[in-house]
Amino acid sequence: MKKVLIINGPNLNMLHYRPSKYYGKKTLEEINQELANFFKHYKINCDFFQSNSEGEIVNIIQKAIGNYDAIIINPAAYTHTSIAIRDAIEMLDIPVIEVHLSKPDTRESFRKTSLITDVVTGKIEGFGPLSYLIAAFAVIKLLNAS
Ligand code: DQA
Repeated sequence: MKKVLIINGPNLNMLHYRPSKYYGKKTLEEINQELANFFKHYKINCDFFQSNSEGEIVNIIQKAIGNYDAIIINPAAYTHTSIAIRDAIEMLDIPVIEVHLSKPDTRESFRKTSLITDVVTGKIEGFGPLSYLIAAFAVIKLLNAS
């Protein structure tokens, strides 16, 4: 069975406290449940990981090598700052989809740069919680699982 890892960065565990105009109204648990249902339908295993720590995100990406067939990642604020997460992603030779609920480059200037976009397979942003499901659809197509 193919395996997908979904990684969420800092403050995404508190989505329901964050501005709904950017992030919608779903909790991360609700988004993860939708993803789990979606992947189950295509007989793909999925694991979920959320951390507020940069180093823990680097560790889980390193551990994914050889263990997962694709990754969906929303590094949250680390998108704009983390060379360490970028370097970890660069080591992977599986599809990696960058996801954002909002459209970061239309917001404050410090969100305009993503340090990972050029090392991921593709990026989905701006659809609120739906961004994750669109990314999941891309994953099943890229893994020829449909
Ligand atoms: C985010 C955008 C980031 O700029 C922000 O720091 C987040 C969430 C998004 O999903 O829109 O925490 O990655």
